Amino acid sequence: MAKNRSIVLIAGCGYVGTALGRHLAKAGHTVWGLRRKTGDLSSPLLPLTSDVTDLETLQSLPSQIDTVFYTVSPDHSDEAGYRAAYINGLRNLLEVLKTQAQQPRIFYTSSTAVYAQQSGEWVDESSPATPDYFSGQCLLEGEQYLLNSRFPATVVRLGGIYGPGRIRLIRKVQEGSATYQDGSPRYTNHIHRDDCVGALAHLMTLEQPDSIYLGVDNEPSERRELLSWLAKELGVPPPQVEVSIQAESRQTRNNKRCKNAKLVRSGYTFRYPTFREGYGEILRAVIGQ
Ligand SMILES: NC(=O)c1ccc[n+]([C@@H]2O[C@H](COP(=O)([O-])OP(=O)(O)OC[C@H]3O[C@@H](n4cnc5c(N)ncnc54)[C@H](OP(=O)(O)O)[C@@H]3O)[C@@H](O)[C@H]2O)c1
Repeated sequence: MAKNRSIVLIAGCGYVGTALGRHLAKAGHTVWGLRRKTGDLSSPLLPLTSDVTDLETLQSLPSQIDTVFYTVSPDHSDEAGYRAAYINGLRNLLEVLKTQAQQPRIFYTSSTAVYAQQSGEWVDESSPATPDYFSGQCLLEGEQYLLNSRFPATVVRLGGIYGPGRIRLIRKVQEGSATYQDGSPRYTNHIHRDDCVGALAHLMTLEQPDSIYLGVDNEPSERRELLSWLAKELGVPPPQVEVSIQAESRQTRNNKRCKNAKLVRSGYTFRYPTFREGYGEILRAVIGQ
């Protein structure tokens, strides 16, 4: 269990990491935010300018770190970018921590992309994770590297993160360019940024967190339903059916329903149980602009 006053390192302190860091600092922890461009990290976060893919830049880690959140994401959506962010960077950080004889618990934010299920199946932590695409394969390799390391570790497989400022989907619905595929339902799995923060902060308080949790909200949403709901709330025409072959193959890779029962059983209560509460709040702000 985390101490009342822990030393926390957030490696890859971006959208989720910064919100998590602020939350933990407010709770009294000392929080270091590591990234390459630390200009946006302000007090109470302590900036640490490092590149996880460059061992030399990792030599000035704080000492006596209790908890690490590894929330790095790739610069590029290609295999080299994924390997750098999810495997090589993690390996470097663990190497430095080991050399410094530090033994923090490490939380790694993976993704539901590790599941290749494509028929709308229900998926939980015990379901087979056999990704057939490099993104999921790199994430899974990073997970396994961490879970086989000497560090106490927990992997959180997050769904698509949305929240304040991440409103691309809302804009697309507003512009009329959001589409869905006709035919059998295609499910997507989401989590609001503040529930990423809440769930990670909650897991940090557990005496003995498990090795893998799914981090998704209560309700996998069908893309058509989500887009139609957004259109209705925005008062714009409903989304259109998409027919392109390319879109078909992209979307068929993403059709499973992820369960959050294990996270909920561990004691976490979602602030935004479904997209309606989460997007509802964001829409009120967007419409009010
Ligand atoms: N976004 C989603 O929908 C989603 C879904 C599932 C899982 N996840 C995972 O959730 C985590 C948090 O996502 P997010 O949306 O908060 O990501 P984000 O906003 O892109 O933040 C990631 C941070 O990593 C830093 N970074 C990238 N490469 C780095 C490097 N070589 N060395 C040090 N820092 C580096 C970046 O800052 P600099 O450029 O300044 O270095 C960036 O601020 C990530 O691990 C992501 O893969 C995200």
